[in-house]
Amino acid sequence: MTSRTMPADRDPIRPTGTSITISVDGQPTKGLVGQTIAGILLGAGRASWRRTAVADEPRGLFCGIGVCFDCIATVNGVRDVRACLRRAEDGDEVLVQHDVLPRRGHPESQR
Ligand code: FES
Repeated sequence: MTSRTMPADRDPIRPTGTSITISVDGQPTKGLVGQTIAGILLGAGRASWRRTAVADEPRGLFCGIGVCFDCIATVNGVRDVRACLRRAEDGDEVLVQHDVLPRRGHPESQR
């Protein structure tokens, strides 16, 4: 585990701050006030938290500055939230997103 992905409570630098807990797919995950959702996910050891629609490949943090949208997740019922920009709040409920594109001829593709 590198320092980038180390949980805050095991970081030898001993960061100070108020602890918060968010739910990630129903799993309690600890972080600190001021961390982004992506920061908490990386600290918890998750490198990806969504899958691409076409190739079903994992995605997580890419640009880290809100440009690429690779890091989107559903937060408190709101879809397509960029985890790299959204500061986590205690009690946030984060769900991974995976949307399969409608197949040709499928009623969903006729819209
Ligand atoms: S990582 Fe690129 S928008 Fe979040």
